[in-house]
Amino acid sequence: MIIHVVEDYKQLSAKAADIVANQVMLKNNAVLGLATGSTPEGMYQQLVQMHREGTVDFSRVVTFNLDEYLGLSPEHPQSYHYYMRHHLFDHINISLQNTHIPLGQANNMNKMCLEYDGKIAAAGGIDLLVLGIGANGHIGFNEPNTHLKVQTHIIDLTQDTIEANSRFFDMPEEVPRQAVTMGMGSIMKARRIMLLASGTNKAPAIEETLSGRITTAVPASFLQLHHDVIFILDREAAAFLVEPDRGFYIPEALRRHVSLVLEPGA
Ligand code: PGA
Repeated sequence: MIIHVVEDYKQLSAKAADIVANQVMLKNNAVLGLATGSTPEGMYQQLVQMHREGTVDFSRVVTFNLDEYLGLSPEHPQSYHYYMRHHLFDHINISLQNTHIPLGQANNMNKMCLEYDGKIAAAGGIDLLVLGIGANGHIGFNEPNTHLKVQTHIIDLTQDTIEANSRFFDMPEEVPRQAVTMGMGSIMKARRIMLLASGTNKAPAIEETLSGRITTAVPASFLQLHHDVIFILDREAAAFLVEPDRGFYIPEALRRHVSLVLEPGA
C-alpha cells in the first residue's frame, strides 16, 4: 500500500492524472475503472489537457464505471453517463463503444448487472481502478451495511449519501434513493487501485479505512487487503497522519504495510 500525501486538490488531480496516463502509456489498450463525483473532476480535466497536448492516446482504452443512479436515463444531466461524457469522453479520442457504465434504466436490471460483470471479465479485468470515497466510507455505491455484495447490484443509498448527493439536484425529492453499483468483487479484483480523497470531510473515513481493522461498516477498509493500492490524499484528508509535534507519522497498525510518500510542499 502506498499513501501519497499532496498539498492540495490541484496536486492531487495532477498526480492522479499522471498515474492514469502512465497506465495508458504502458498498455495502450488498458482497462480502466472510473469514478464520478467531485473528487475526480480535476483529474479528468488534466487528462483532457494531456490528450490535447498529444501526450495520451485513448483510442484503444476500455473503461468501466463504478456506478449509476437507478431510474436516471443516460441523458439526464445528473446521470453518471452524462457526467462521463461531459468531463471526459467528449473531449478525448476514446471510442464510445469501449466505454461501459451500468444502466440506471433497463428492462431487466438483474440481467444487466450480470452482463456488466461478464463484460468486465471478458475484457480481462480492470488494470487500474480509480475510486473516490464517501464520507461514510463507501466505495462505488457499496454502502456501509452488515454485509457487502460481491457482484454488480442494485443498492438502497444511505441517508448520508442521499444528503451528500442532494447538492447536485434542484429539489430534494429528485435525489435518487437507489443506485446500481459494481460490487466488492470487481473492485477487489482490479489489478491496481487508486483511491483519491480531498478535504477535511473525508478525513474520518480515511482514518477508518486505514485503521488496521476491516469491517463492512466501512467498505473502503477492505482495500487494506489489496496487494496494489495507492491512496492519494491531500493534506486535509490525511489529517490523521499529522501529529502536532511530530509532523507526519504512520499509525502503528499500518507500519508494516505502508510506504508514505510526501510530495514536496505537503
Ligand atoms: P465526491 O464523492 O467525490 O463527490 O466527494 C465520492 C464518493 O461518494 O464516492
